[in-house]
Amino acid sequence: TTNRTFTMIKPDATEKGNTGGILAMINEAGFRIVAMKMVHLSAAKAGEFYAVHKERPFYGELVEFMSRGPITAAILEKDNAVEDFRTLIGATNPAQAAEGTIRKKYASSIGENAVHGSDSNENAAIEGAFFFSQLEQF
Ligand code: CMP
Repeated sequence: TTNRTFTMIKPDATEKGNTGGILAMINEAGFRIVAMKMVHLSAAKAGEFYAVHKERPFYGELVEFMSRGPITAAILEKDNAVEDFRTLIGATNPAQAAEGTIRKKYASSIGENAVHGSDSNENAAIEGAFFFSQLEQF
């Protein structure tokens, strides 16, 4: 069934000029962009987005990184979007990411891994709503 997922092109990828290359891979994989914007998160906003990871040892580092510079947030639609997008981005650790994945090509480390992808339909809806109102989703 057609569903939606949420993605962010992270500050490391923005800094290196990889936003266009990543969007091209997303398009080529058959995802339709139904919302998109570039934003620079404050540390407070990044912390709120990743609140679910608050108790993790890497939380502080994650919040600092995600507020370091602009990101591109987007909602993507496709058949089986959540699972197919996680396949397209590859493993969190780029050393384990499969050939042909976005992280294989663009990520530099577990933390600075170029892209985010929602892990469930429920989280896709929550994360999408964090950045976009209903009026901003096409
Ligand atoms: P993401 O899928 O956006 O969601 C949680 C993020 O936490 C993850 O991508 C990584 O960027 C980051 N992360 C996960 N594990 C680690 C780790 N061990 N050290 C630093 N960052 C991590």
